Amino acid sequence: MVLVSGAGTNLAALLEAGVDPAYGARVVAVGSDRPGTEALERADRAGVATFVHRVADCVDRAAWDVGLADLVAAHQPDLVVSAGFMKLVGPAFLARFGGRFVNTHPALLPAFPGTHAVADALAHGVRVTGATLFMVDEGVDTGAIIDQRAVRVADDDTVASLHGRIKDVERTMLVEHVGAMARKGWTIHDRRVTIS
Ligand code: GAR
Repeated sequence: MVLVSGAGTNLAALLEAGVDPAYGARVVAVGSDRPGTEALERADRAGVATFVHRVADCVDRAAWDVGLADLVAAHQPDLVVSAGFMKLVGPAFLARFGGRFVNTHPALLPAFPGTHAVADALAHGVRVTGATLFMVDEGVDTGAIIDQRAVRVADDDTVASLHGRIKDVERTMLVEHVGAMARKGWTIHDRRVTIS
């Protein structure tokens, strides 16, 4: 199950990988917090079930969180992937999917959490940034780290050019680990995620 908000290039990589049965994971559904995104179109083209669940359609954020958990649970996923999903989930969602909810982030956490990670890293002047795959917990981008990949910052980088190179390594990392987690299983102890 993949949660999205935007372009869905990470989703596209997972959809493509899942075509091969040997990969071990298949996207059973795609959920979005907003309608009309490219990510939803990608899911439609792949024949995967979709839903849109907007905060604005719920009485409050807690109700949105419970509703999201129900919509996701209906597809009985083994693993939930946040791939460019720009919403924080709450306690109801984590109570049901904590420990099997992963997120991909375009920075080397714990540096530059939040929604403007690439711009923040560029503004700070770091020479190396990258992407982090981690287990979602109740914090903002604070969960146990599964893997990280580094990307050098070029002198003439813009947010778009740097994010483009980060997304290249991010997709590869996401596809590798989602497949391995599905095939082998995983454990989490003392912030160490072991896939085996
Ligand atoms: C990815 O780079 C992902 O790490 C980032 O949004 C992009 C989504 O791209 N997520 C965050 O910034 C979350 N804080 P995509 O829609 O093309 O997969």
